[in-house]
Amino acid sequence: MPKIKSLEELKRIREEAQKDLRVRTETGTRIIIGMGTCGIAAGARDVMHAILKELERRDIEAHVETVGCIGMCAKEPLVDIEQAGKPRVTYANVTPDMVPRLIEEHLVHGHVVQEWALGRLDSKGIQ
Ligand code: FES
Repeated sequence: MPKIKSLEELKRIREEAQKDLRVRTETGTRIIIGMGTCGIAAGARDVMHAILKELERRDIEAHVETVGCIGMCAKEPLVDIEQAGKPRVTYANVTPDMVPRLIEEHLVHGHVVQEWALGRLDSKGIQ
């Protein structure tokens, strides 16, 4: 983690954290990217950059976070999308060129991209 060099920088970081928390609690939209060794080796960093770019381009607020490996290396990069009141859906082998369609169909229109979905987690468990 880089050193904080000024009070202004600390304030900016605080404001960004508060905004992120607000987005997470108010929109209930989370995008979770597997960023373990296997995820990174499979290109998860590029996928994350593509997701951040697409969200910014469309002016969509979502809480983007990274997690470690969940033991499914062959399916990396894994991306989970969770929206308030809807099941958490895991997408497998995500590449940057898949991101615009994923954001468009899942986040904008609320349709799971079935052919890329690995599974979903809701109140009944994993399906
Ligand atoms: S990094 Fe060890 S299983 Fe993915």
